[in-house]
Amino acid sequence: MPDSAATHWAALAAAWAKQGTPLRPGPEDAGRYRQAVSTHRPGDGGRRSVLLLGVTRELATLAWPYPVELTAADNSLSMIQALWERDSADRRVACADWRALPFGDRSMDVAVGDGCLSVIEFPGAARPFSRELHRVLRPDGLLVLRLFCRPEAGESLDAVHGALAAGAIDNPHCLRWRIAMAVQGGDVDRGVTRDEIWRAYQPMAAEARAMAGRFAWAPEALELFDAYRGGQLRLHFPTIAEAAAAMREFHLAGVTLGQYAMGERFPVFCFRPA
Ligand SMILES: C[S@@+](CC[C@H](N)C(=O)[O-])C[C@H]1O[C@@H](n2cnc3c(N)ncnc32)[C@H](O)[C@@H]1O
Repeated sequence: MPDSAATHWAALAAAWAKQGTPLRPGPEDAGRYRQAVSTHRPGDGGRRSVLLLGVTRELATLAWPYPVELTAADNSLSMIQALWERDSADRRVACADWRALPFGDRSMDVAVGDGCLSVIEFPGAARPFSRELHRVLRPDGLLVLRLFCRPEAGESLDAVHGALAAGAIDNPHCLRWRIAMAVQGGDVDRGVTRDEIWRAYQPMAAEARAMAGRFAWAPEALELFDAYRGGQLRLHFPTIAEAAAAMREFHLAGVTLGQYAMGERFPVFCFRPA
């Protein structure tokens, strides 16, 4: 039963192949990231130093619009071992906490990450996260984050259950995040534990299995709910406004929403150092 960050990520690393879009970035997300990072136009226009927050493979292998020297930072050795292919001349990884990065002041041009504010304490860890990114980015730098955001208007668990039963949720990962956001509700500081998500799912499990057959979900996709059983680690789902407010050392230069189902809950933020 995962009950600490290290054990949680070790378990998730083992189950990573079961994750799917939109929790993992899909082709449309890669396009939004690419469009966002292409707005970084410093004076010299040469090779950029890029910081990758985590080891999200779709970002490590992004078709960058300019030459990059990319350094990934992730504090889970298990995730690094599971997802990082290997270091090369212009790609390397550091096992490091985002709140205490082993990089110099103003050493990075661009930082990118996926879902970062959901996996750290909110706002307790989000504040040092924002400060640390501000420290390592150059003043003309760019921070691009796709974040998992709940809608301003809350949704009840009954409404999620009703949508599932009506066949209106055609993706098992959307189901998991929709349950998670409904259980959390408006209290982003409290967040939601993995175990609470697992428990809220139980009354919906039979319908979910029926939908798995109807929509041909990968047989293992629903097993990720079971990986949450007993997990006390919290996830946090800010609204777009709460996420922007947490990144106080930056100003918001733009947000794009996904065009896929539930895409409004997967915004890509462009932040510039304030
Ligand atoms: C960047 S998020 C990616 C989320 C992914 N899209 C998903 O659905 O789970 C997950 C990664 O963040 C890493 N992580 C979480 N908290 C961290 C921290 N404080 N410092 C560095 N890495 C962290 C985890 O080890 C994990 O590899």
